[in-house]
Amino acid sequence: MDKNFYITTPIYYPSAKPHMGHAYSSIIADFFARFKKIDGFNVHFLTGTDEHGLKIQRSAEKKGLKPLQFCDEISKTFRNLSEILNLTNTDFIRTTESRHKTSVQHLWRELEKNDDIYLSKYSGWYSVSDEAFYSEEEIEEINGLKVATSSKSTVEWVDEESYFFRLSKWEKPLLEFYEKNPGFISPEARKNEVVSFVKSGLKDLSISRKSFSWGIKVPGNENHVIYVWLDALTNYISALNYPNTKEKLFKSFWPASIHLIGKDILRFHAVYWPAFLLAAKIDLPKKVYGHGWILSGDEKMSKSKGNILDPIEIINEYGLDSLRYYLIKEVSFGNDGNISQERLEDCINSDLANNFGNLCQRVTAFAIKNCDSKIPKKIEFNKDDHKILNNYKDNIELIRKKIDNQDINFYINFIVNSLFEANKYFNDQEPWNKKEDLLRLNTIVFTTLEIVRKVSFLLYPIIPESSIKALKIFGINEADINLSSIENNDFLSKVDKINKIDILFKKIEKKDD
Ligand code: ME8
Ligand code: MG
Repeated sequence: MDKNFYITTPIYYPSAKPHMGHAYSSIIADFFARFKKIDGFNVHFLTGTDEHGLKIQRSAEKKGLKPLQFCDEISKTFRNLSEILNLTNTDFIRTTESRHKTSVQHLWRELEKNDDIYLSKYSGWYSVSDEAFYSEEEIEEINGLKVATSSKSTVEWVDEESYFFRLSKWEKPLLEFYEKNPGFISPEARKNEVVSFVKSGLKDLSISRKSFSWGIKVPGNENHVIYVWLDALTNYISALNYPNTKEKLFKSFWPASIHLIGKDILRFHAVYWPAFLLAAKIDLPKKVYGHGWILSGDEKMSKSKGNILDPIEIINEYGLDSLRYYLIKEVSFGNDGNISQERLEDCINSDLANNFGNLCQRVTAFAIKNCDSKIPKKIEFNKDDHKILNNYKDNIELIRKKIDNQDINFYINFIVNSLFEANKYFNDQEPWNKKEDLLRLNTIVFTTLEIVRKVSFLLYPIIPESSIKALKIFGINEADINLSSIENNDFLSKVDKINKIDILFKKIEKKDD
């Protein structure tokens, strides 16, 4: 079985400091990476910054900085954010690194060798904000300003010599590929958009610019820089040392298991990128998942709209795990989602403090007092105990399947229900009324502790720090977290002592109540 897993986030433009949308993609990617890791996979998890092109060049000019100097500064804030978000990324790529340039120029030569590139002239619209070419049908006029209909970003007219990629040649092979690989583009609704775009006819794509210099030079023609999207997409393989395709890194992790992106950049990932790869005779990634947008009011949260929430401010106020949990639970994965501080506070109070935190506190406090701070040794499960414990064993295969289909909503619902059931079990069993029947009291405590252990394992991909903290009750370390032992109903019999832990989540006093 293939026990390697390669997941990527988009590489973000360091044109301004990161916002909640970037944090969202990265947190979701980290969720999958951690899940796969505790399921025994070798995980390669890549993120980084996309540093070339006119958008960056102009942003740097505005600050009066050289582009590289500008990128150095802002790329650092993205790298810091990955640390603040507690990401388990195994690499962070910057497209200004030489390992990346080498790969991009090699890929260019491969495309050239296969006669997929020719020199001509581009006359048409270009959006610097999207770094995208748009046809006449894709733009509209708002208040006398030409904008791209899809993103509403302004477009400008470009008229210059340019190299083209023979995208039109790949129309049929792409459609065949989508047909043969129905899971390639997810979610399903997004796939239909892509397929109809390709079916409507692909025009050759301009892949170089001549009127500015901030980019990777076209091999053999120093007057041109390579189109920033051809440059950027290549990061997914340059980070695996492409063209060294015989080496372990590339062989283990390519094709990627999943490129996780926002739906705004689906066309680049689901049409252009696979076409480049087909042309260069490189395997295609297994999946491109275009998630929805975090909205602020009714609009996409974005730098250019100035309606951003700063993830670092939220983390400073509420803690990282609260934000991770909230985004994973409340933004129905695949769809757009509005976020608000009020909903975040509700979520912390009801799910994290009341459901999870309280369960951990109650059962440990009870066990410390009534079981001499020890994991009970003599126990005898009855049918109620078996039922609640086996729920994990019975569902673990399903959970794995759901995760392979990116059904995060299923996962989080499973956990929320489990917590609800666990609290209910503890209440209904009334261990405090069993002081005359120690075998029963001990069994209830053991069962509830086992559930705390199992749920903490499942929560690890979502709220890693808190999960690790909860597992300190049993002296279980991060390295011991693995999904296969979810099935085990007496994992804790190996453990001796029960440790007291600090409060996991503090309830938030709501200002208005
Ligand atoms: O497009 N909601 O970079 P970018 C959810 N450099 N996710 C959001 C979001 C929002 N409101 N705003 C941004 C680029 N994102 C290119 C990518 S990849 C080879 C090159 C996330 O800085 C989401 O993942 O504009 C989106 O696709 C990405 O950030 C765009 O980041
Ligand atoms: Mg963008």
